[in-house]
Amino acid sequence: MKHLLSIEDLSREQIERILDRAESFAEVSGREIKKVPALRGRRVLNLFYEASTRTRSSFELAAKTLSAEVVNFASSGSSVEKGESLKDTIATLSAYGPDAIVVRHPHVGSARLVAQWTDAAVVNAGDGKHEHPTQALLDAFALRRRIGSLDGARIWIVGDVLHSRVARSDILAFQRMGARVTVCGPPTLIPRGIEALGCDVTCTLDGLGEADVIYALRMQRERMADNFVPSLREYARCYQINARRLGPQQVLMHPGPVNRGVELSAEVIDSPQAIITQQVEAGVVVRMAVLYELLAGSGGAETAPVPEAAPVAAEAQPA
Ligand code: CP
Repeated sequence: MKHLLSIEDLSREQIERILDRAESFAEVSGREIKKVPALRGRRVLNLFYEASTRTRSSFELAAKTLSAEVVNFASSGSSVEKGESLKDTIATLSAYGPDAIVVRHPHVGSARLVAQWTDAAVVNAGDGKHEHPTQALLDAFALRRRIGSLDGARIWIVGDVLHSRVARSDILAFQRMGARVTVCGPPTLIPRGIEALGCDVTCTLDGLGEADVIYALRMQRERMADNFVPSLREYARCYQINARRLGPQQVLMHPGPVNRGVELSAEVIDSPQAIITQQVEAGVVVRMAVLYELLAGSGGAETAPVPEAAPVAAEAQPA
């Protein structure tokens, strides 16, 4: 695997290998000194043209835990503000010899373009409305930990599907892992032709009781040029996941950040059914596994053993 640009490029076996390796890295997170030398001497560039809390911080933690050098680049405050293009920015930063570039950008297809302009491995950390593959991998990881195999699981993805790169990546990943996916939302927020991905589509929550897992999406107001719903209050009345709609056996997921009181009510966010915090936690080990796969993995190799912490632990002690 040279790049991670789309879940479409991954087989079930490749997804399972990444999740299994993430499991083996989870042990590192429990150590007193959270560091292994697996990517020592490698250089990871985080290139963010859009806001991010979870993705950016977890990629940085993942790379540092693997002992890679990390450079964080945010478009705001950079020469992008003076008009430097994405292509020129990649050419400039490639002069530093990065081994991997993690890129988030508002335009669909931007990560694939970056992959054409650099020798580094490229990870798509979100390209417009298109895909967010590492989010889908961490979601599959967190869900597998909660329910075991995803085979036959019924997963409802509810909300603003139209603007959601998470929805697209999750539909592909969950189905590849054997789940049955239904997408649900207002007709204006369901992309035309989404059935082609193999999922069911509905515009009401009437059948929500059949779901084993409810995956609520954020209302992406920053991507909405028009009024897609009459009001957020009306949206919440029809589609909000609240204590009345969430069954005691159902698992609740959300990629974050949450609009409290819009797509989720406060009480379900803090309910035992919610695994939102576990999703965030999974972000570090899954992104460690992705970086390892791209920079040190051997393709068809079995899950690599996690190197002992000792050699790096000594370096990690304060002088
Ligand atoms: N879920 C997600 O991608 O969150 P951030 O925008 O905070 O990275």
